[in-house]
Amino acid sequence: MASTQHAHGARILVASNRGPVSYALDDSGRLTAKRGGGGLVSGLSAIGPDAGAVWVCAALNDGDREAVRRTGGALDPADTGGRRVRMLDIDPTVFSEAYNGIANSVLWFVHHMLYQTPLEPVFGREFRHAWSSYEAYNRAFAEALAEEAAEGAAVVVQDYHLTLVPGMLRQLRPDLRIGHFSHTPWAPVDYFRMLPDDIAEQVLRGMLGADRLGFLTQRWADAFAGCCEALVGGLGDTRIGVHGLGADADFLRERAHRPDVDERMAILRQQIGTGPDGRPRKVIVRVDRTELSKNIVRGLLAYEELLESRPEWRERVVHVAFAYPSRQDLTVYREYTAEVQRVAAEINERYGTPGWTPVEMHVKDDFARSLAAYRLADVALVNPIRDGMNLVAKEVPVLSDQGCALVLSREAGAYEELGDDAVTVNPYDIRGTAEALHEALSMPAGERTERSKRLAAQATALPPARWFLDQLAALEV
Ligand code: G6P
Repeated sequence: MASTQHAHGARILVASNRGPVSYALDDSGRLTAKRGGGGLVSGLSAIGPDAGAVWVCAALNDGDREAVRRTGGALDPADTGGRRVRMLDIDPTVFSEAYNGIANSVLWFVHHMLYQTPLEPVFGREFRHAWSSYEAYNRAFAEALAEEAAEGAAVVVQDYHLTLVPGMLRQLRPDLRIGHFSHTPWAPVDYFRMLPDDIAEQVLRGMLGADRLGFLTQRWADAFAGCCEALVGGLGDTRIGVHGLGADADFLRERAHRPDVDERMAILRQQIGTGPDGRPRKVIVRVDRTELSKNIVRGLLAYEELLESRPEWRERVVHVAFAYPSRQDLTVYREYTAEVQRVAAEINERYGTPGWTPVEMHVKDDFARSLAAYRLADVALVNPIRDGMNLVAKEVPVLSDQGCALVLSREAGAYEELGDDAVTVNPYDIRGTAEALHEALSMPAGERTERSKRLAAQATALPPARWFLDQLAALEV
């Protein structure tokens, strides 16, 4: 590749399915931009505009597609906080088959071990068809990155949507330094090889096109290495690193003390109310997308078991549970969302009294209200059946006003960092989780404050900006 050909290219590139901005199109044809949050967005803010980074992402909806049509794909910097963002308009059917059909229904399910195996998965014709869309979608990213990158540039590709990109990009542009970061767990080989052999191999070889692969914990990195050993003869020249993305303390603390959060705290306090002793009730908080891997139903059943086996907590505790709809294009997610709400309603029906609602469940996404709940938390319940990291486990200790006890699943990536000061649970064990809730609720104030402080310190050890810079440094930028 002649160096002049890429003279104006970017030195640093990021690729992810979801970009830092999304658009909504109203009836009068007006486009409004909504900026996204999350670790990647704040991570990227660590490099200044002079770095000339380009972020390549997909158009996810009609608003995004219209924005691409109007701009040719190079989004207006006014909408992106000054960042250079190239949005790809991938054919909507191809996109949906890649995103819903493969990324969210197959790769997400494999890495979180979510299949109910007597019936699923079925890797037949439909799957093969969707897989070719996943290839096309990955190719579109690889080609866009190849076009945008300067000679020798560093490219950091994100997540399971884009596992084939490193290999494809390596072929198009051998001069680039390519990294890939997984935000999910990685499946152990016995589960991973449920994928048809040719597909499993294609995924691993696609990833191994990178110079360096990043994972959130050693456990996921080891699982990946195990799959490579067993299925493709090892890692070859690809290096592996672990970077445990932490909470963004500065952003969170500032955001959580704005008036809109105070207002929501007042409303929540009223809903929570006071117990028979006239003191405010204890608060168990959980905040999740209604995601199958988050284990919300078992969390509710454990809370019910607490009320059943430890009746002294009745009227003295409220479970504030926010479950925000996610991936509602998939039937199984819609069913799960309904089940979560059904179980919460059942608990309220069975145990509620005129002055006490045992579960305060809200499903309408409201970030300020989530932060308000974090501040009020006595106990945070984070009990996923499997989770790459889980940032809620890190954010609540940072924000809880009086320090919180953390009930944490040993299957969350965050367990590796926070396990010592959390009350840890096997996420399938309802009675064990109920007992952990009891222990957390009963923890002496002094111990709780001390543990919460240590949790917060650990949780903020690798803030998004450093996490992102570490990935770049590992590519020797
Ligand atoms: C979670 C996961 C990420 C993933 C994201 C996609 O945050 O931890 O690994 O990239 O979901 O969510 P989306 O709403 O874009 O499907």
